[in-house]
Amino acid sequence: MQSLLKSNSLESSLNESEQVPFLGKVFVETYGCQMNEYDSGLVKGILQKESYELVSSVEESDLIFINTCAIRENAHAKIYTKLQSLGYLKKRNPKLLIGILGCMAQNLGEDLFNQELPLDLVVGPDNYRNLPQIIQEIRSKAQFAPYQLTSLSRTETYDEIEPQVINGIQAFVTIMRGCNNFCTFCVVPYTRGRERSRPVSSIVKEINSLVESGVKQVTLLGQNVNSYMHEGHDFAALVKAILEQSTIERIRFSSPHPKDFPMHLIDLMAKEERFSSYIHLPIQAGNSKVLSEMNRSYTKEEYLDLVRNIRSLIPNVGLSTDIIVGFPGETEEEFQETLGLVQEVEYDMAYMFKYSEREGTIAQRKLPDNVSEKDKSDRLTRLVELQTLISAKKNFEKVGRTYDVLVENTSKKSKLDLNGKTPCGRMVVFPIPHGESQDWIGKTVKVHITHSTSATLKGNWVG
Ligand code: 5AD
Ligand code: SF4
Repeated sequence: MQSLLKSNSLESSLNESEQVPFLGKVFVETYGCQMNEYDSGLVKGILQKESYELVSSVEESDLIFINTCAIRENAHAKIYTKLQSLGYLKKRNPKLLIGILGCMAQNLGEDLFNQELPLDLVVGPDNYRNLPQIIQEIRSKAQFAPYQLTSLSRTETYDEIEPQVINGIQAFVTIMRGCNNFCTFCVVPYTRGRERSRPVSSIVKEINSLVESGVKQVTLLGQNVNSYMHEGHDFAALVKAILEQSTIERIRFSSPHPKDFPMHLIDLMAKEERFSSYIHLPIQAGNSKVLSEMNRSYTKEEYLDLVRNIRSLIPNVGLSTDIIVGFPGETEEEFQETLGLVQEVEYDMAYMFKYSEREGTIAQRKLPDNVSEKDKSDRLTRLVELQTLISAKKNFEKVGRTYDVLVENTSKKSKLDLNGKTPCGRMVVFPIPHGESQDWIGKTVKVHITHSTSATLKGNWVG
């Protein structure tokens, strides 16, 4: 293998690379979470500013970037398959440059070059500003040498880039990056580094320019969004500032940690209609010993108290969660407590996962992955079955009620239907009313719910 060009060679080689400018067609594909969607927007913005052209197919591209996820083993597996599938393009065009970005790049680094993959560069989430120089440097050599840049930053927030990651009438805005929590199962603190928040004023500015582009709903993003803190402004203060200084119609956020949920934040949600009454509140497990071994810093009882407080102030709140089954040492009885908690809280929706041991995490170093694959699968099946029943019940309770629905799109299944969400985050599908030729997308309309399934609500426009 050719020797790795180290990151500190970047500056010394810039003069050389400046003599060989190269602009190309770039394809960026995103795996993983909404933060990665946003980060791909940053990468596209950075490259577009340098006059690279964005294209939508690998076939026509000179540069392919895959923005990756490392959260569970199957996330890695997908990327390997994807990379292998690009081998034929690299053979056809040795000047094609293929790069891995994001959490898997940060997590595996140099190891990625040892697997006979068609791969030229590996760049972590805090190094995207350097991409134009890195590309030039690699291209300036007669033969590509593998390039890795995976240093973590304590300050990088890509503050002024404003990537405009818009999907119809919705957009994502990253308000903080990184995580200080070190849940023992989680690789994120190692791939995304320590917490750092953007200034309030720049977030408000970004949202205002999104509003000007027609955006009606923003989702504020962060690995630990409610531990936002910038110059004394906490998450609630940030949301207040956005409400006061912009006309954005709906504000959502993802994902909060239960430990950072003060009463004044719940009060603000209860009071402000534009602050969506939907909370994704990851529990991870329903047994306090398991929670302690996960380093979640709350007990089952404290979490349930928080849910009670939230529900008493925001009776119509929508709640969803993340749950891991088969964490090291989790017994059948402890898993039963997770089922009991799910039964008690009655989430509208849940994302449920089998524990997946991740390289470098505290659990990987200290806690043997000792729940069998069969038990993990069996627990997951039972949990999913329970949650599906609960989701169906929660949705059925909404039949007969009327909601303010922010219309997002025409339905994928039928052009004659529209879809959108209630303030509590539930998806609603309703037919375009006869004779009503207005532009529905982006409008908030009243919809009376007539039918439900475990996944969706159906209804009719009532004016
Ligand atoms: N195994 C399984 N699930 C995990 N998650 C994070 N790390 C792991 C892991 N090692 C889940 C958590 C988290 C969500 C984004 O992914 O539930 O909240
Ligand atoms: Fe991972 Fe825990 Fe941080 Fe969430 S709070 S990103 S689960 S370490």
